[in-house]
Amino acid sequence: MKSATLIWVLLLLLRFRLFVDAIIDPVDFLALQAIRKSLDDSPGSNFFDSWDFTADPCSFAGVYCDGDKVITLNLGDPRAGSPGLSGRINPAIGKLSALTELSIVPGRIMGSLPNTISHSKNLRFLAISRNFLSGEIPASLGELRGLKTLDLSYNQLTGSIPPSIGSLPELSNLILCHNHLNGSLPQFFSQTLTRIDLRRNNLTGAISPTSLPPSLQYLSLSWNKLTGPVNRILLRLNQLSYLDLSLNRFTGAIPGQIFAFPITSLQLQRNFFYGAVQPANEVTIPTVDLSYNRFSGEISPLLSNVQNLYLNNNRFTGQVPVSFVDRLLASDIQTLYLQHNFLTGIQISPAADIPVSSSLCLHYNCMVLPVETPCPVKAGSQKTRPTMQCNEWRG
Ligand SMILES: *[C@@H]1O[C@H](CO)[C@@H](O)[C@H](O)[C@H]1NC(C)=O
Ligand SMILES: *[C@@H]1O[C@H](CO)[C@@H](O)[C@H](O)[C@H]1NC(C)=O
Repeated sequence: MKSATLIWVLLLLLRFRLFVDAIIDPVDFLALQAIRKSLDDSPGSNFFDSWDFTADPCSFAGVYCDGDKVITLNLGDPRAGSPGLSGRINPAIGKLSALTELSIVPGRIMGSLPNTISHSKNLRFLAISRNFLSGEIPASLGELRGLKTLDLSYNQLTGSIPPSIGSLPELSNLILCHNHLNGSLPQFFSQTLTRIDLRRNNLTGAISPTSLPPSLQYLSLSWNKLTGPVNRILLRLNQLSYLDLSLNRFTGAIPGQIFAFPITSLQLQRNFFYGAVQPANEVTIPTVDLSYNRFSGEISPLLSNVQNLYLNNNRFTGQVPVSFVDRLLASDIQTLYLQHNFLTGIQISPAADIPVSSSLCLHYNCMVLPVETPCPVKAGSQKTRPTMQCNEWRG
């Protein structure tokens, strides 16, 4: 009799256990409730309509479970044009212990990213872009050892990028562009880091030669206040397919080797780079912008295969190589901006027909223009540089 009761109790417990397995872990249930309470649909969004806590939360829009645990949370209607969510991110987010992916669609989320997010130890993907997140990036994100993608772009984040982010061993995409981040670039240790986009922040200081791994394919640091030379850094990054360092205060020379990297767009404009531009071989990068720097010396004919070449507002001297003229007349060059340099000539017949699809600008050099060319307004109306400046330059 006694043992029969025991078996019955055991069976009951077993059944209960199976029952619990089928629905969500109570800790995750409570966390989702708290998260829901801190957020709302923006007018015009009805993402939370399906969030009825009398049903199993694993069936809610944007909630994905593995067994009784939430593993993915995609908050907000991902369809284009959705106005997104408003409110704040509840610290209870960290209670979702099996969470691997958290994303929130563009909207009006305010406040800071809670520190507790570091308790979701399995997080690999964290993307909350185009909201109004403010405050600092929690240094505790560095505890998320499996984090691969961190995208907090287009927010109002302040403070510096915590060094702990640079120590994340699995980091592959870091996208923090369009914030108000200051301080210097941390050292990155992940050997699988492929993408860094930090453009439009307030970063300062020099970049240490070893702070970026050779695995990088996409690097944009545009529109910051970064300083110092980058030649040693660039030499290591020979897998780059996109490089934008424009609108900073970088100095020093550019190694000719970078022109042989598999880059499709090279943007170095508006810095204080100087020295000669000397590719080792024919350059096949479609767009190269070196404008508004202090580059000098003669223009290399090896650049004449570039389709859009911006060399304007530098200190280039000598004749424009004849290979440029040939390629221009063959419509192989779309943009050739050479204005505001110290160039002394170009071999082009005054009768030459420059294709309408090509833009050539030669204003404000040390030559009388052989042809009329439509320049951008910014090039000014003065066609030739004052002779005195040209003579001074030649010493
Ligand atoms: C950068 O800092 C300056 C002064 O501290 C500030 O005026 C400016 O708005 C900041 N820019 C960004 C993008 O945060
Ligand atoms: C960064 O900005 C914060 C204010 O957001 C300021 O307190 C701090 O001094 C700045 N740090 C640097 C290195 O400029």
